Amino acid sequence: MRKKLIAANWKMYKTPDQTRDFFRDFLPLVHGHERDEIVVCPTYLAIDAAVTAAKGSTVAIGAQDVYWQTEGAFTGEICASMLVAVGTTHVIIGHSERRQYFGETDDTVNLKLKSAIEAGLIPIVCVGEVAEERDAGLTDDVLRRQCLRAFHKVSAKKAVNLVVAYEPAWAIGTGKTATPQLAADAHAIIRAQSADSFGQDFADKLRILYGGSVKPENAQTLMSEIEIDGALVGGASLDPNSFAAIVKY
Ligand code: PGA
Repeated sequence: MRKKLIAANWKMYKTPDQTRDFFRDFLPLVHGHERDEIVVCPTYLAIDAAVTAAKGSTVAIGAQDVYWQTEGAFTGEICASMLVAVGTTHVIIGHSERRQYFGETDDTVNLKLKSAIEAGLIPIVCVGEVAEERDAGLTDDVLRRQCLRAFHKVSAKKAVNLVVAYEPAWAIGTGKTATPQLAADAHAIIRAQSADSFGQDFADKLRILYGGSVKPENAQTLMSEIEIDGALVGGASLDPNSFAAIVKY
């Protein structure tokens, strides 16, 4: 049995004050909830507020990105050891918005994955096709390529904590959710590629999250798919009631 992981991706929302408000309301709602792992990924600037607010709870704090160098003249960037130093335990890598707007490539995802692993962070690597690729029947190829390149020269031993998120770009922030069956099929492709890269035993244990318009109304149907090991939630994670309802699907 793979323990499900429900992660909030807050994107560019919430100041430190708004973060404290969220946790004040959210933590009592999920108090004692042990069935799933819960992770909240605020902006860099609100990580400290989130770590302090979540102390003593079972909620872990993650970052939304990381740079792969360990230090140096890289204006505006944050490295993995800095994230660890402020109490971050997880990091999202290769989100489709970073691929679309900020030049993220399969190769930079690979570099970021390696640096996150070296620092002891739990990486949540995002993969997923855009609408044109799905329409052209390329979903299988795209997912396999993204995984293959992301995992390049990463050993199964090092990748032991790896989490993958399947996020079809056409379902993100659009209100269009992949059907549970469609998501499960994509997860099976990702698991097959992970087996090729890391071995079947690793692939059997790998947690693959679904992301793309997850809401309280569809969480239960998605989570009941055997292939879906959790969710990466954007918009619906900003409200404490709505995110708690998803966690408790
Ligand atoms: P959404 O975003 O839930 O708002 O569609 C998901 C994500 O981008 O992680």
